[in-house]
Amino acid sequence: MRVLSGIQPSGDYLHIGNYFGALRQFVALQEEHEMLLFIADYHSMNSVRDGAQRRSFTRSVALDYLACGLDPQRAMLFRQSDMPEVTELAWMLSTVTPMGLLERAVSYKDKVAQGQPTDHGLFAYPVLQAADILIYRSELVPVGQDQKQHVEMARDIAQRFNNTYGEDLLVLPEPYIPEEVAVVPGTDGRKMSKSYGNAISLMAPRDDLRKQIRRIVTDSTPPEQPKDPDTCTLVALLRAFADPGAVAAVEQRYRTGGIGYGEVKARLADAIDAHVAPMRNRYQRLLTDPAELDARLGEGEQHACQRADRTLARTMVAMGL
Ligand code: ADP
Ligand code: TRP
Repeated sequence: MRVLSGIQPSGDYLHIGNYFGALRQFVALQEEHEMLLFIADYHSMNSVRDGAQRRSFTRSVALDYLACGLDPQRAMLFRQSDMPEVTELAWMLSTVTPMGLLERAVSYKDKVAQGQPTDHGLFAYPVLQAADILIYRSELVPVGQDQKQHVEMARDIAQRFNNTYGEDLLVLPEPYIPEEVAVVPGTDGRKMSKSYGNAISLMAPRDDLRKQIRRIVTDSTPPEQPKDPDTCTLVALLRAFADPGAVAAVEQRYRTGGIGYGEVKARLADAIDAHVAPMRNRYQRLLTDPAELDARLGEGEQHACQRADRTLARTMVAMGL
């Protein structure tokens, strides 16, 4: 199957929520599928308004991707803007996209509800995302829960396009969200997000990682008192990174009393560190070799370009362009 996903370069590092919710799936999927992965720099224009910053974020997200263990033979990495054709397809798609569909987008409604300024780019965001997916004839789109609706919208838009211009022109994609993938909480207990200032950086040096984990907010229940594991951020994070046996033992000690948050934080730091240490080593090596990153982005772009050109040519003929 052809699998595609993208991550926005909207911060200067990826966090462990991005890893658990997205990158980890990409690395697993490359074993059996053709993977296309891109850095959604066009999408980031809705939030990042500084060119130099976007350039630097884009490179650093690319580095994070590669360091996670993507195999250059199986997973192609490129920048969204290396394929300006997606904006052309986005325009075509926008002409068959009902306003009502976009008005129902949860991400858009959230921003409106928060009173944030909205513009056309934010409103049309799902159409650009649909073009990203459809231009490469992607079949499977691994994403976190929060992106599921966008993939369903891409499917809906593709169906409308096919109904209008010809069946089978565009492939209808499926979201891929493994059941066990939970939302990873941040240091303040809300969803971990670059934009909430509550993120634990994926490639942080070991000492920084421990420092960030020590900052996780807990209540003041003393160690000997029983606690509810299901409402504790530390346990939620442990479930994402520690093996199930170790998690069960900690949960048991929460219920009976006799475990302090300091100990849980130390266990959590060990569990996360065991996961990220090999990635961090690759990251450090890649940092010293910028040419390697450029070469990988160049290869990915060429590979993606061939697929995009074919789809665009077919849709243009069908539309009489
Ligand atoms: P952020 O909220 O930090 O800006 P993005 O929206 O760029 O993150 O998300 C990139 C990918 O990582 C998406 O597939 C998203 O579903 C996933 N993701 C982001 N935050 C989390 C989280 N806290 N837990 C699980 N997955 C997440
Ligand atoms: N909107 C996605 C996010 O914020 C990023 C993205 C852009 C994407 N285009 C995509 C994800 C296409 C999957 C497929 O996380």
